[in-house]
Amino acid sequence: MSKPTLLLTRRFPDAVEARAQRDYITIPNPADTPFSGEALAAAANDGEVEGILCAAGDALSASTIASLPSSVKIIATFSVGTDHIDLAAARDRGVMVTNTPDVLSVATAEIAMLLILTAARRGGEAERLVRGRQWSGWAPTQLMGVTLENKKLGILGMGRIGQALARMARGFGMEVHYHNRRPLPQAEEAGAMFHADDAGFLAAIDVLSMHIPGGEATRNWLNADRIQQLRQGAIVVNTGRGTTVDDAALCKALTDGHLRAAGLDVFAGEPDIYPGYHSTPNLVLFPHLGSATIETRDAMGFRCLDNLDAVLLRHEAPLHAVT
Ligand code: DGY
Repeated sequence: MSKPTLLLTRRFPDAVEARAQRDYITIPNPADTPFSGEALAAAANDGEVEGILCAAGDALSASTIASLPSSVKIIATFSVGTDHIDLAAARDRGVMVTNTPDVLSVATAEIAMLLILTAARRGGEAERLVRGRQWSGWAPTQLMGVTLENKKLGILGMGRIGQALARMARGFGMEVHYHNRRPLPQAEEAGAMFHADDAGFLAAIDVLSMHIPGGEATRNWLNADRIQQLRQGAIVVNTGRGTTVDDAALCKALTDGHLRAAGLDVFAGEPDIYPGYHSTPNLVLFPHLGSATIETRDAMGFRCLDNLDAVLLRHEAPLHAVT
C-alpha cells in the first residue's frame, strides 16, 4: 500500500522528521520560514497531499484553506493555539484540525515563571549592565527589585498551563488567585482563590500572568482601563497570545510607572513587535520560547504524528480534534 503524502510547513525536530519520513511521503519546506498562504497552497497542490503538519507561524486563512486540494483530510498544528487557522473554513471544507494539548504545559509555565522572576528581579537590566561593561561594582541600592514571597499571583485563564504555573509559584511562596470562566475544583483544592469578576481579580493581585487564547473575543483584553485596575507597581507577563494585550497602553503604563515591570513571550504580528517596546527598560522580551525545550518539542511533534497516523494510516478519529 502506498504511503500517504504529508506536507511539512517547517523544519521539525530530527526525531519527528525521521518518524514522518518513515511513515509518509514527505514534502518539506527547505526554507524553514513560514509559508505565505499562496506558497502553502501551492506546495499542498504539488502532489496528492492528504495531511499538513503546520506550526503557529503559518497563516491558514479561509482563502488558503479554500485553495487546498480536496485530497487534504487533516491539518495537524504543532501548537496548542489554533488562532492561525480559520477553523470554520476548515470545518466547512471537511478538513480536520488537531493540536497538541498537555505536552507543553510545564515548559510554557516555566517560561511564565522565568518572566515573572526576571521582571521582578530586573534580570534583563542586570544582564545588559554586565554584558555592556557598565557595571562598576556592588552598591546597596543598585537594581533593587521586589521579592516574590507573599506576593499575590493572578492567573488569567486557569487551563493546564495556568495550573502548572500555580504549582511553581507556590514553591516561591506566592498566594495564587485566578480568573476563569468557572472555578476549578483542583485549583480550589490547591488553595487558589477564584475571582468571577475581572475588576476584583485585577485589584487583588501583585503579578498578572496571562494565559488566554488569541482571536477576536480576547483582542486587547488587557487595555488601558484594566491596566489601571491593577495595583500601582504591579507586574504583567504574557505567554498566551500577543493580541490579548493593548501594546500602546502597556508601554505607557511601564513608562509612566503605573506598572513596575512586564515580561512578554508573545506579540501581535510577531516577529515584528510594537516599536516602543525596544526602548522600554523595565520590559523583558522573549522570542516566543514557551514550549521550546527539546523534550517538549519532540513530544509536540509526536502528538501531531499520532493524530495524523490515526486519520491517514488507521482511518480513525484523531486524538486531539479541534474541529
Ligand atoms: C502554542 O503551542 O500555541 C505555542 O504558542 C507555540 O506556538
